[in-house]
Amino acid sequence: QACWAVVPAAGVGKRMQADRPKQYLVLADKTVIEHTLNRLIQSAAFQAIAVAISSEDPYWPELAIASHPQVITAPGGKERADSVLSALKALQGKADEQDWVLVHDAARPCLTSADIHLLINSLTNDAVGGILALSSHDTLKHVEGNTISASVDRKHIWRALTPQMFRYGMLRDALQQTEGNPAITDEASALELLGYQPKIVEGRPDNLKITRPEDLALAQFYMEQQDD
Ligand code: CTP
Ligand code: MG
Repeated sequence: QACWAVVPAAGVGKRMQADRPKQYLVLADKTVIEHTLNRLIQSAAFQAIAVAISSEDPYWPELAIASHPQVITAPGGKERADSVLSALKALQGKADEQDWVLVHDAARPCLTSADIHLLINSLTNDAVGGILALSSHDTLKHVEGNTISASVDRKHIWRALTPQMFRYGMLRDALQQTEGNPAITDEASALELLGYQPKIVEGRPDNLKITRPEDLALAQFYMEQQDD
């Protein structure tokens, strides 16, 4: 079964409060998005990588990786789900309906090849697919206002990471059918809404999403750890 990658990279990075979208901030020797794409390319798992880029983005065309033969550019959308759907459409005619697509945030530059292959190998015979996820080390509370209404049983709660791996046709249809629904914040939630039951595969804590300013230093630390 062929595997394709989709990378939503059309966000503005509001919470990062930087002078440019966070995917273009520099981490060690290159931008966040270059790290992310290099790791996908180096895994040798993908036929091609479709990247969703905002039409107002002046940074992307400046990067050498934008013209890499394995990289396809698609227009970004209003929300993350719209960007993912746009990138999926750019694979139309290339990907078969049953092929696998791994959707991975541009803002997660510390993804390891090991995790890519773990996800693919764990789910390749699954009918639906699933996602990398992390358990929580903290005790979790259900809160209303500032009052705890219940403690949540931790063993049933996982934090959704990316990549998220689904069949090309099924994922495209699910995102099309849930278009505009604000509850769809990842690929799995679109499939869940249609009654599918995606699996989880335990990922690694270093696969963080750069979201706030302090995350940049943390990502740099993780990358140095991974080097050896
Ligand atoms: N993304 C996208 N299109 C959008 C919004 C987000 O492709 N309309 C991408 C981002 O570029 C990022 C990933 O989806 O790689 C995860 O989203 P998030 O971490 O929320 O990034 P931003 O939306 O850029 O950040 P913020 O929410 O703080 O503005
Ligand atoms: Mg966002």
